[in-house]
Amino acid sequence: MSGKDKLVIFDTTLRDGEQSPGASMTADEKMRVAKALERLRVDVIEAGFAIASQGDFESVKAIAEAIKDSTVCSLSRAKDADIDRAAEALKNANSARIHTFLATSPIHMQHKLRMTPDEVVEQAVRSVKRARNYVDDVEFSCEDAGRSEVDFMCRIIEAVIDAGATTINIPDTVGYAMPRQYGETIRTLIERVPNSDKAIFSVHCHNDLGLAVANSLDAVANGARQVECTINGLGERAGNASLEEIVMAVRTRSDFFAVETGINTEEIVPASRLVSSVTGFPVQPNKAIVGANAFAHESGIHQDGVIKHRETYEIMKAEDVGWKTNRMVLGKLSGRNAFRQRLDELGISLGSEQELNEAFTRFKDLADKKSEIFDEDIQALVSDAKKFAEAERCNLVSLAVGSQTGETPICNIVVSVDGDEKTASAEGAGPVDATFKAIEQIADSGSVLELYSVNAITSGTDSQGEVTVRLEKGGRIVNGHGSDIDIVVASAKAYLDALNHLYSDVKENPQHGV
Ligand code: KIV
Ligand code: ZN
Repeated sequence: MSGKDKLVIFDTTLRDGEQSPGASMTADEKMRVAKALERLRVDVIEAGFAIASQGDFESVKAIAEAIKDSTVCSLSRAKDADIDRAAEALKNANSARIHTFLATSPIHMQHKLRMTPDEVVEQAVRSVKRARNYVDDVEFSCEDAGRSEVDFMCRIIEAVIDAGATTINIPDTVGYAMPRQYGETIRTLIERVPNSDKAIFSVHCHNDLGLAVANSLDAVANGARQVECTINGLGERAGNASLEEIVMAVRTRSDFFAVETGINTEEIVPASRLVSSVTGFPVQPNKAIVGANAFAHESGIHQDGVIKHRETYEIMKAEDVGWKTNRMVLGKLSGRNAFRQRLDELGISLGSEQELNEAFTRFKDLADKKSEIFDEDIQALVSDAKKFAEAERCNLVSLAVGSQTGETPICNIVVSVDGDEKTASAEGAGPVDATFKAIEQIADSGSVLELYSVNAITSGTDSQGEVTVRLEKGGRIVNGHGSDIDIVVASAKAYLDALNHLYSDVKENPQHGV
């Protein structure tokens, strides 16, 4: 035992992170992220906001049923119906938390809630008591705490702890706080609230001024014992505090912090890649810990130093956060059992024998074109196979593009729509543009392309390209993903995947139309 306090890592990638415009995930993607968070050994996974929609409810429920090693949490406003819905979604969880919140800043109470401070205290207490009827683990957040008055927060916090709250969260909702000031607020609250020893104090910082991690760490130095954070710092507006930065700061500066986390740091990079790939939000190369350049030394002086003695310029080991040189895991001669075993090792479960067959066929096709197959290749082809097995409405049948200097690129495409093969031909500014135009001739979706991004899955020119396409229609935003060694094919798959998401949303909500 180190004698240090435990710092609870509360991940909100699936809730606050998913609220980021364009970062919405399908139920299957949310489950994959939840499993990656469990492998990371995150203490609490905020799986969603159960009352927000039927889809949110279902995915909180499914995650609560599947996750065994982390506590699963649902957000709920301080309203009876929200709390009941959260409890219903969480009822089969191994370990469940209800997180309820109410604004405590003068500006929010007066203009948004239109409630007096007395009414706010009363509603907060009622909600916490209601949540405690369902679960023992209840978190209360003073929304906009960063702009709330300390005296009022002391009053409401004492009342909700008496009502049964076990975690008190002090969110800097609008990213307004400054490190020293925020840390002092946390210390003052812990010192002044008479029953503060009966709850864990938590922080949840937004990054509007680029200070989310600094504020969170200052709070930890001043007594906070839970940090709410997200993978890659995903989240509303400028995002939340980034999990990887918090965890590695606490670990690397264990001389400074009196706390330790239970995070399996080697799972950080795989989790970061997964979140980036499902949301289509790339990680900037110079991002701390998980950026492609985070451990790359370019200058000769640095390289020389690192070769002579690694610690001259490196404060962390790349392998400790999960950076590996791409490991060749399977090849052309690998059989079905080796493939299945690798899927198990990667924590990938395929729902049916049909999905496994589809994935194995795709693996063999890929191995014919590419001699070394890496874990990242397997993750990508499994995603494609799952989509195919789910019998999506639109599937790529074949594609031919013509592209040569001095000529206008052209695409001839065959797409199957509900089992009927349809062909189209279109010209465009480039082969991808021509392909998207040809698909639109068939689909006539009327959607607007909001984002197109391509990322090489592994290194080398035979790497698969992973493409994200984001489409917007009538205020709805969907992401589509596709991967292939040929990036035009990957682009077509991604566009069709996004259309399938638009169509499936319409099936569930016919009022949306496509
Ligand atoms: O930023 C915020 O205040 C929140 C709360 C719901 C915790 O996300
Ligand atoms: Zn937030």
